[in-house]
Amino acid sequence: MTKACVIGWPIKHSRSPMIHGFWLHKYGIEGGYEKVAVSPDDLPDFLNNLAANGFSGCNVTVPHKEQAFKLAHELHDEARAVQAANTLWLAGGKLHATNTDIYGFMTHLDQSAPGWNAKQRPVALLGAGGAARAILYGLLQRGASDVRIFNRTKERAVKLASFYEKGVRVVDWQNRDEGLEDCGLVVNTTTLGMSGSPPLDLSLNKLPNDSVVADIVYVPLETPLLAAARQKGCRVVDGLGMLLHQAVPGFERWFGVRPQVTTELRDLIVADLGE
Ligand code: ATR
Repeated sequence: MTKACVIGWPIKHSRSPMIHGFWLHKYGIEGGYEKVAVSPDDLPDFLNNLAANGFSGCNVTVPHKEQAFKLAHELHDEARAVQAANTLWLAGGKLHATNTDIYGFMTHLDQSAPGWNAKQRPVALLGAGGAARAILYGLLQRGASDVRIFNRTKERAVKLASFYEKGVRVVDWQNRDEGLEDCGLVVNTTTLGMSGSPPLDLSLNKLPNDSVVADIVYVPLETPLLAAARQKGCRVVDGLGMLLHQAVPGFERWFGVRPQVTTELRDLIVADLGE
């Protein structure tokens, strides 16, 4: 029986077992997907003994994404681009690593805002952490040529922008309201708006009404930012879709079936988030 898992520290709140469990059942696959709490000190041992512990691969979540990237043997382009891995699998005796957050975000954006085009108008990216790095790479790959990065700690935004020669510029966090002028897409990758965190203080007055507003926060599903965008008539892209879609490539690698992100799966996770 093929088995995979998700590792993190802590791991209690991960929804990945629910997502993969849904697909295993749906496609009638005799496989398993578990969550395993792995401390940072235990990570190298755990990954070295993945096969011995019966796993074909794993998902990696906070705080192990950068370390897993360093420990893997075969690095795929997306992992290199983000310098972090969230999906690992064994092949030919080697540990392969990729980053499916890019795929997850871009796929959900394409589906939620059909016709949206990276090349047409500037993009505002709020935040400069790991998620921002994955999304920035995805946007640039699609031909975005004017991405404005806003981050509270400016040095982090400057560092993120420095990985690319063109297409990215840093704008002061204080100037984020005016910085939305002419933008076709706004993406919040900060933790602001998440339940337990303050809301993102951002005025959408300068943003054109026909823009797209995306948030990677999914608890709550409709963040104050998305509610304001919806009220303005913008198309909105929630954070849950990214979580669901990023799981697809890993499932296919481990279990050999490319799974579908359906309304049924989404409803299952939404119900769980509400508890
Ligand atoms: P991840 O890797 O998941 O993206 P992270 O590296 O912790 O997470 O990044 C969190 C983002 O939220 C950062 O851009 C952070 O800004 P700083 O780089 O200045 O820390 C942003 N963030 C968190 N709390 C914030 C706050 N109160 N105000 C503004 N930005 C905040």
